[in-house]
Order: sequence, then C-alpha cells, then structure tokens
Amino acid sequence: LKIALLTGGYTAESEVSLKSTEFVYQQLDKSKFEVYMITITTGGWFYVGDNGVKHTINRDDFTLSLDGHIIRFDVVFIMVHGSPGEDGRLQGYFDMVGLPYTSCDALTSALTMNKAYTKAVLAGIPDLYLAKSVQLFESQREEAADMVCRELSLPCFVKPNAGGSSIGMTKVKTEAELPEAIEKAFNAANTGRQVIVEEFVEGREFSVGIYRRADGLFVLPATEVITEREFFDFEAKYVPGLTEEITPAILTPEQRARVERLVKAIYIRLNCKGMVRVDYFLEKDTDRFFFIEINTVPGQTAQSFIPQQVRAAGMTETDFYSELIVMSLK
Ligand code: DAL
Ligand code: MG
Repeated sequence: LKIALLTGGYTAESEVSLKSTEFVYQQLDKSKFEVYMITITTGGWFYVGDNGVKHTINRDDFTLSLDGHIIRFDVVFIMVHGSPGEDGRLQGYFDMVGLPYTSCDALTSALTMNKAYTKAVLAGIPDLYLAKSVQLFESQREEAADMVCRELSLPCFVKPNAGGSSIGMTKVKTEAELPEAIEKAFNAANTGRQVIVEEFVEGREFSVGIYRRADGLFVLPATEVITEREFFDFEAKYVPGLTEEITPAILTPEQRARVERLVKAIYIRLNCKGMVRVDYFLEKDTDRFFFIEINTVPGQTAQSFIPQQVRAAGMTETDFYSELIVMSLK
C-alpha cells in the first residue's frame, strides 16, 4: 500500500506535527507500506525526494508526479495537528478526491476542534462532568472579562477555543489578570476567533487513548500527568523531564472501569474514527470525571502519551499504526 504521511500544518503546532511524523515514519512497517512524507504548508503541499528536490502535489486528485510516473496513494495517514489536519478541512478535501484517511471524518474533526461546541454535544452523558465555562466570540472582546467575572469563579483557564498544545493558554487566579489572558487567547486563536474560559477543577489530570480495532473499541491504559508547573503547558508537554507521566496510571478498578465506559461513550457520541485521545480530570474529594477535551490527531512525538500507552498495553507502535491504516480502509 502507498501511504501519504501528512506533516506540517498551518498553525503554531506544525513543529509538533514534524516530530510526530518523524516518529510515525520510523515505526511504520516498510515491508507492508511504501511511505511518502508529504508536507502541508500555507506555501504549498509537497514531497521532498531523496535528492532534496521538492515535488508539488497535484491538488486536483492528490497525486504526485515523480520521475515521469504518477503516484496514486491508497491511504492518507494524517499527522497534521491543528488546522488543516485536525479541523476537518483536509478530511473534507480527501472525501472530495475519494481517498481514505486515518482520522475522524470532516464533521467530527470540525466539531471537536471547537472545545465549547464539543462540550455542548457531550452534555448529558451519565457520570460525565463538564467544568463550567464561557464561550467568547470576537464581537464580545471588549466586554469579555466582565462576562467571565459575572459567570465564573476563579481560578480559571483561558484558552483559544480551537487550539492545541496549550498555545495561547493562561491559568488566571485574579480578576486583574483576565483581560490580558483573554487578549492573548484571542490573538493565538486560529480558526473561528473564539476563546473559552473554564473554571479550574482541582484534582488529578489524565489522558487516555482509544481507537477502533477489528474486534471493537479498545481503550489504552491511561497516563497520569504530574507537573510542577502551574499547568500542563507547552514546555511541560514537550521539554523532557518537566513532567512526571505515569503510564499506566494508578487507578482503582472502579475508576478504570468508569473511565473506559465514559471514554467509549464519548467516542461513540462524537462518531469518532481511528485513534483519539481524551484528556480529563478526576476531581479531588468527589472523584468526578471532568472532560477537558478530545484530540483527534493526538501527538505521536517520542514524549507523547499514545506511544507510551501503546507500549504499556504490550503492543508495538508498528503494529498499532498498521492496524490504524488497515481499519481506515474498512
Ligand atoms: N495537540 C497535541 C499535539 C496533542 O493533543 O497531543
Ligand atoms: Mg489538545
């Protein structure tokens, strides 16, 4: 099978995409797959040949013309975090040109890129809690801080509503810090120009992968994140050693069973495909499961959670990525 492994992207997460793609590329089984790394940038979509020459993708049908012959891909492995790989744009494009891909479909990708709309869709799942939040639109920028003060209590998290890797995010403890945090989040917002502000939930933070295999939905072992920093920010995510990550997380059998049930319910309600990763808190004292967000193109860098979880489940990344590709064709 010919695989187009997509990297890059149009946002600040493109650096992370490059690292994720390098890792996936190393792990992919080259005896089964002929892998072409395709870079998606605002300046163009291209493949770099062995000699360093750039070959532009034909966007009419996503083919590649190489040394006088045309390469037609069988599957697209999307490893672009943020727009346009995680927000439904490329998914819509591949639907139009008729190529299967490893991620969620266009609607689910677009929906889940918007944290506030995702929460609205997930409301009502039994035992699933959602931190109180306010969705702010560009037209409300002036009055945003007042709205937040009226509706939420502090501390709170301020973030771009359609972002990733904690870029543009601030933990706010006093009212005085709010306006600057909100401006920062608006300025970092990619698509939609929206901000979400959420009340802080005190508790333990986790992240867990889930994907569909031939025998049904499979929840990977969760990871607990313990950071000395104010929250699990960009540095904590990607600078090795700043965070302690425990995989598999230490959970009671009841907690583990509840997490599995809730993560499956989320996957089904959002009509997910392929691998996704759900981030959540277990609240101190009450032990309630608070959904933070879902990532439909979860990080696959050497530091990322999913590779850790795959190994903790006793699998190899090579087999895991093979299964994702095979399942995307079903
Ligand atoms: N958005 C980053 C890549 C993640 O979820 O892992
Ligand atoms: Mg994220």
